[in-house]
Amino acid sequence: MSVAYDFGANANASPNDLEAFFMPFTPNRAFKARPRLLSRSKDMHYYTPEGRAVLDATAGLWCANAGHNRDPIVEAIQSQAAEMDFAPPFQYGHPKAFAVSARIAALAPGDLDHVFLCNSGSEAGDTALKIALAYHATKGNATRTRLIGRERGYHGVGFGGISVGGISPNRKMFGSLLPGVDHLPHTYNREKQAFSKGEPEWGAERADALESLVALHDASTIAAVIVEPMAGSTGAIPAPQGYLKKLREICDKYGILLIFDEVITGFGRLGYAFAAERYGVVPDMITFAKGVTSGAVPMGGVLVRKHIYDTFVKSDDPVIDLFHGYTYSAHPLACAASLATLDVYRDEGLFERARALEPVWADAFHSLRSKPGVLDIRTVGLVGAIDFESRADGVGRRAYEGMERLFHDEGMMVRTAGDTFAVSPPLIVSESQMGEIVEKIGRTLDAIF
Ligand SMILES: Cc1ncc(COP(=O)(O)O)c(C=O)c1O
Repeated sequence: MSVAYDFGANANASPNDLEAFFMPFTPNRAFKARPRLLSRSKDMHYYTPEGRAVLDATAGLWCANAGHNRDPIVEAIQSQAAEMDFAPPFQYGHPKAFAVSARIAALAPGDLDHVFLCNSGSEAGDTALKIALAYHATKGNATRTRLIGRERGYHGVGFGGISVGGISPNRKMFGSLLPGVDHLPHTYNREKQAFSKGEPEWGAERADALESLVALHDASTIAAVIVEPMAGSTGAIPAPQGYLKKLREICDKYGILLIFDEVITGFGRLGYAFAAERYGVVPDMITFAKGVTSGAVPMGGVLVRKHIYDTFVKSDDPVIDLFHGYTYSAHPLACAASLATLDVYRDEGLFERARALEPVWADAFHSLRSKPGVLDIRTVGLVGAIDFESRADGVGRRAYEGMERLFHDEGMMVRTAGDTFAVSPPLIVSESQMGEIVEKIGRTLDAIF
């Protein structure tokens, strides 16, 4: 018996029943009572279904570094969709997969010469952790299975990512997670770091905690350490000066792989293709996603150093090198979008632009210091975060009210984390739009205190 499904009279119409979509990382009832709907985007703006412009102060979700709906990226996706929709990445390949991998590897420092492609930052995190384990096993160091993350770290929502991640609400409902995981302390200390521009002076010594974990577990049990060069999701916490170098030194001393999660710091956010370059540190792997396509098509990946690739890819036998991959690894639409995005970054000098504008942005954002309730302001690259006092009825409620006001009254989008606004505009942001972002946040702080 055939069933006629009702797909709705006009699938493009603004929906009037929001119930079916179980929204991720969203208070569903609060959102559905007062939705923040977006239906179009161009350059620095979103537009609501009613046509109201919303200034995008967050590059979507840290992704649209080139701005939205850029013509070359749109055209590349359109023409790829017409040419070839899908090609299996296992045992077959297509030219753009190889081309984009070479382009991404060319942007990375040192001998981070090889790229494993996937579809998101979460997949990239889990892929990097699996490569670390398989690397040691292949080298005959099968006891090296322990993975070290960091408090306040975010590496996506796969079981590997939440296990090494350090955000308790993301972990506490999901069972015992991966065994054999430990965490470094986070690097934030308001007393010692408040209102820093760029990397705070205090905090490199927090890397010494890795020595303590080695003393506790023994280096022969530790596979890898994974950290974000700037902890993004818990409120944009830049690495303290010298911290990442110190981690590199300790990892080298004990044969531990170092993984940088550059899912949000990659592709210009801190003024360089990768933050690894900014900090003069070559990790063993870099995870990336988001900015690799400016958010236009899902894509993620892991850059691996030559010695890691060579460990797996060492013979001509027709035997699979690494038993890992995704149906949509190197999806043709994603590869086409990424090649076009990388062209935009290069042709418009957007990484250099972000670097040049960092001091202007920092001065503008730090001018919010005198606003009511402000506890700290942090800036690095084209990122800004402002912590403010929580309301008596609970952490995060004031920021939610502020986010609603910013959207409905000011026409602007920000991210919240607890009672923090985090801001990371597309790298095409103009100086006057930087001023607009700061003014809108300033008026909103006046209103919510
Ligand atoms: C540092 C970091 N790693 C991983 C992820 C997960 O990426 P995705 O949401 O694409 O899975 C994110 C997402 O914000 C992130 O900020």
